Amino acid sequence: MSSSIITGAAGFIGSHLSEQLLELGENVVGIDNFDPWYDPKAKESNISSAMKHDSFSIFNENILSMDLSEILEPGDVIYHLAARPGVQDSWGSGFAASVENNVLATQKIFQAALTSGVRRVVFASSSSVYGASATNELKSVAPISPYGVSKAACEQLADVYRERGLDIIAMRYFTVYGPRQRPDMAMNRLFRAALPGTFRFPMRGNGSQRREFTFVKDIVGATIYAGNSNLQGVAEPFDVGGGVSASLGEVMSLVEEITGRSLRVDHEPSAAGDPLITVASTEFTEKTLNWKPTTGLREGLLEHYNSLRESVASST
Ligand SMILES: NC(=O)c1ccc[n+]([C@@H]2O[C@H](COP(=O)([O-])OP(=O)(O)OC[C@H]3O[C@@H](n4cnc5c(N)ncnc54)[C@H](O)[C@@H]3O)[C@@H](O)[C@H]2O)c1
Repeated sequence: MSSSIITGAAGFIGSHLSEQLLELGENVVGIDNFDPWYDPKAKESNISSAMKHDSFSIFNENILSMDLSEILEPGDVIYHLAARPGVQDSWGSGFAASVENNVLATQKIFQAALTSGVRRVVFASSSSVYGASATNELKSVAPISPYGVSKAACEQLADVYRERGLDIIAMRYFTVYGPRQRPDMAMNRLFRAALPGTFRFPMRGNGSQRREFTFVKDIVGATIYAGNSNLQGVAEPFDVGGGVSASLGEVMSLVEEITGRSLRVDHEPSAAGDPLITVASTEFTEKTLNWKPTTGLREGLLEHYNSLRESVASST
């Protein structure tokens, strides 16, 4: 029986993807090294629900050192999400981790997928490949951070392996939020800066930077369609955005409204590699995958907040 292989299965998005594929009756094999870049306990908690399924198994291994040929079978679909995400940590010596976990690990996945005859690889790329371009109407790849460069390099590797006959679909995710969001990401930090405690939100710049926000269940939906649809010959990457645009300042107000509390904020200068605006062009994605994002920002933030409150309550 063929399986859905999910790299980064214990991470924020990978854990939701695992649960959704299990719900659809798939046999799911996860790969994750529980990288301590952020608390591995959070990752254990992320996959605790998937772990209850008989159809789920996980390899606690690093892609770079494991033997993938023992896991991959012809007909499998690989959802390759494992990476060192995060723009800010990719500067300076942090770039070595981006190269290892993004570029080298992705090349290893593509090579192993080609050799093992897997049916398709769905690769989690990023809006960071667009860089500073305001509306990316031209969809030109021009990253402004080392992280963006690493994802652009992975996309180029995808082109190379596609030429060799591997079926690869690249998905450019736009700022994803929702339950289990990584602790380094803005919305998670904003809620923590509103909950009782001492955590303060480090606000970079004046709050006017705009993002296209995507609720995690919408990202997962598009990713599963990309794994299962007939996409023979499609080489163009898919923008996956939630159809919601808001500035950091607007999100801060929404968080205060939802929590009924004032945020504790520290003001910091704008960060290098942080684009002023991101806007997804989802027409091609919606038409080709027959998919549409359905979660509004307030609704998604509320679900995010409720889940964060529950996990804080259960850990105290
Ligand atoms: N969260 C977002 O807003 C966003 C936006 C654009 C793209 N992406 C991409 O989506 C994917 C998932 O992001 P996320 O936010 O869920 O991140 P995450 O850090 O929560 O998940 C990534 C997982 O990969 C694992 N991993 C890393 N290197 C590994 C290796 N060498 N071997 C095995 N496992 C390894 C980590 O332990 C982690 O659990 C990443 O590729 C990221 O670049 C995310």
